Amino acid sequence: MEEKRHKTEVADVFESITLNSKRIQSRKLFNYNIVLIGFMGAGKSTISEFLKNSFAMEVIEMDQIIAEREGMTISDIFEVYGEQYFRNLETNLLIEMQSKTNVVISCGGGTPMRECNVVEMKKNGRVVLLTAKPETILDRVKDSHDRPLIENNKTVPFIADLMEKRREKYETAADIIIETDGKDELQICEELILRLRQMDSE
Ligand code: S3P
Repeated sequence: MEEKRHKTEVADVFESITLNSKRIQSRKLFNYNIVLIGFMGAGKSTISEFLKNSFAMEVIEMDQIIAEREGMTISDIFEVYGEQYFRNLETNLLIEMQSKTNVVISCGGGTPMRECNVVEMKKNGRVVLLTAKPETILDRVKDSHDRPLIENNKTVPFIADLMEKRREKYETAADIIIETDGKDELQICEELILRLRQMDSE
């Protein structure tokens, strides 16, 4: 019994050392926020989660926070209050989050469509655009039902068309662009870290 208690205590100490060294490493690497943007299904949430686990960084999942605060799903917010109401919530949340540093902000797919949102992102962060082909996007989103803008249009042509309409704004907002097709999370994160480090040393 006594031995078991010690084992747990030692494991707790190790866990806290690991967590703190991850935090120190991430603050040294990124003394700013990493703002992930990109089309629905581009991998923003997955990569945020990977960064959280690798560097113990706090993740601001914008859609999730909005849904929690409103006590409604994103689809219900769109249906009950309309898209503009949701967009205003996004802008306000983004402004609120600029008081933080060394966090990962995982934006909704439409967040960079408002220029004022992009201004907010850039105040304190580097903007990383994740891209994927429409076919890849369709494959990633086909089984989920929380994206009202594509819920009844889950087809390659519809996704390709909306993506094309948004492309210029995405690319203008981005400090770096990472293609995600055919890459796993580790490859994407390695590329992301390398590119951010290059940008910081320029
Ligand atoms: C949207 C993307 C969604 C969510 C909302 C609107 C968009 O977020 O914010 O449904 O306009 O592209 P994800 O990109 O996380 O799916």
